[in-house]
Amino acid sequence: MSELLIRGRVLTFVDEPKGIDDTASYLTVDDGAVLVRNGKIAAVGDYADIRKAATADVTVADHRPHLILPGLIDTHLHFPQTQAIASYGAQLLEWLNTYIFVEEQKFAQAEHAAFIAGRFMDELLSNGTTTAVAYCSVHPQSVDAYFTAAEQRGMLMVGGKVMMDRNAPDALRDTPQKGYDETRRLIGKWHGRGRAQYAISPRFAITSTPEQMEMSRALVREHPDCYVQTHLSENKDEIAFATSLYPDAKDYTDIYARYDLLTDKTLLGHCIYLSDREISVLAETGAVGVFCPTSNLFLGSGLFDRDRFDRLGARWSVATDVGAGTSFSMLETMDEAYKVLHLQGQRLSPLNSFYRMTLGNARALGLQDRIGSLHVGADADIVVLDSSGKSAMELRMRTAKSLVEELFILQTMGDDRCVAEVYVAGKAMKARKVNAAARVL
Ligand code: GUN
Ligand code: ZN
Repeated sequence: MSELLIRGRVLTFVDEPKGIDDTASYLTVDDGAVLVRNGKIAAVGDYADIRKAATADVTVADHRPHLILPGLIDTHLHFPQTQAIASYGAQLLEWLNTYIFVEEQKFAQAEHAAFIAGRFMDELLSNGTTTAVAYCSVHPQSVDAYFTAAEQRGMLMVGGKVMMDRNAPDALRDTPQKGYDETRRLIGKWHGRGRAQYAISPRFAITSTPEQMEMSRALVREHPDCYVQTHLSENKDEIAFATSLYPDAKDYTDIYARYDLLTDKTLLGHCIYLSDREISVLAETGAVGVFCPTSNLFLGSGLFDRDRFDRLGARWSVATDVGAGTSFSMLETMDEAYKVLHLQGQRLSPLNSFYRMTLGNARALGLQDRIGSLHVGADADIVVLDSSGKSAMELRMRTAKSLVEELFILQTMGDDRCVAEVYVAGKAMKARKVNAAARVL
């Protein structure tokens, strides 16, 4: 039985930090170690103790003085938009029509989908993200490419085929029946195969007819253990259009509620302009609002009101939303999250940022027993962070006096250069060769 002992400064959360002094919310071990056996965490604690508990021929990966954390989790992004990041000058609806609905048509070609899926997974890993929830394109072959690339790397990934049957180019539209049939087949093929998890994915109310919403309801009823992902209340023109298409709905949230799409397995991208009534519906149903700061700033969409979610008891998570999001890095994402909240007079402590990227997002997915913290029995998805990964950070770190200050430097200045190593089910992934054999379309 081969064992791996990962040595460094261990940091893992046990609960949501209540404030900047809440030392009970996390566990740190200065000369710590995580023992990995069969892809799972077998022990966590002081290096000296763990070394004694390990077998004599254990492999030791010594990452001192770096931090060892659970792999980061991204709860919303679009894998077919990997090459559409940095598309200039438009707000949501124009951006979708001008750039995204053109780009996503390329995923009809299985070869292109496979190439991008591989690069997408490698990009996540080089940013320290070991689990993500992504939209694929409308084409079933894009879902096959996505889960195949995840399986090849051993990653726990959530995803699904976008369903859309109106307000999109012909080549990107399915029909209510086709969307239902293809989704059902893909769930049967992928959901629960290895670490794969399926997300039923009606893109948003604008691109689905009431008939497709009915089919989505049927899929959710028939597969209650699958996730649901869609978009909600990101942009004012979008809200006006969506609500005009469903004139009987009380508001945008009610469109999804009427079709029974809001459960504790539902992830709703953006949620910027919700009324108290709508946030209360999310609180009652357990649906999660997904905060995508780099995307919301890039598209000029607006500012996520975290305090209102907390006050009304609604769940929220954080995500990159690539390709409206401008970075695969969850560190850069939390940097922007801090600024978005700061602009509204709200605080995001570094402890809360690191909780959100790990255990918080795992809880949003109901996966806290498997990922998001370093506990015995968890999957060994682990990131090693170097707080001096850039020269400017190395200089700044010389003046850092506490762990909290170090975390704030990491989130404010850090990016993929701070990811010293990443482990997926106990396998080191950073040194993997990137497949650079591009197919240019
Ligand atoms: N709303 C519907 N589709 C999308 C998308 O692809 N990106 C973003 N940011 N919002 C959306
Ligand atoms: Zn999105």
